[in-house]
Amino acid sequence: MSSVPRAWGVVVAAGSGSRFGRPKHALEIGGLALWKRARNALLEGGCAGVVVVGDVPDGVQGGARRRDSVLAGLTAVPQAEYVLIHDAARPLGSASLVASVLEALLDGADAVVPALPINDALKRVSGEMITGHVNRVGMVAVQTPQGFRLDLLRAAHAAMPGDAHDDAQLVSAHGRNVVTIPGEVTNLKITYPEDLALAEKIWSGA
Ligand code: CTP
Ligand code: MG
Repeated sequence: MSSVPRAWGVVVAAGSGSRFGRPKHALEIGGLALWKRARNALLEGGCAGVVVVGDVPDGVQGGARRRDSVLAGLTAVPQAEYVLIHDAARPLGSASLVASVLEALLDGADAVVPALPINDALKRVSGEMITGHVNRVGMVAVQTPQGFRLDLLRAAHAAMPGDAHDDAQLVSAHGRNVVTIPGEVTNLKITYPEDLALAEKIWSGA
């Protein structure tokens, strides 16, 4: 058996939480910190280990932008074939979603992201005024965990210094294919205070 673990995880838990009103790393659902929930899903879904980036015990120091925090995590990841990048702000992503990302990588994909169809009509606005009606056909909303060949994600980060919404964008800009798998409706991102209340309700089954 190879001694190189197949997959390692990175949880990004730095950032200022400007839309939430304060940093989110210490927030809890059901008495467990968001970053611990994200880490546990990665471990239970098949990652051999997890690097956590942020102001948490044994955490790696984060950067100014999300992509800088991911890079700090990638630098701390030991040799592995694959890496899954997961937002601490998505505490309800399941271990089975992690396993599905990993399975797509093992099937040969270079890069895998969970995605959901957009069911609401999409508009462009300026302030409160609608200025455009956007065709949602062919559009999806993407989540984390996002999975990659580790060497590819490192190369994409090294080649693309600019900011990006996520790691999938860096890999696309690097000229490689990114595939989608079905995401989870309950895998919401804690962005505003009301998201935390909703996540707590989903978690408790209320
Ligand atoms: N993140 C990070 N380092 C940063 C920015 C974000 O590790 N410099 C992480 C956050 O901890 C979160 C995930 O990336 O788990 C998604 O970021 P987001 O929800 O946007 O968090 P913040 O950037 O902290 O919030 P905001 O954009 O509202 O300031
Ligand atoms: Mg942010």
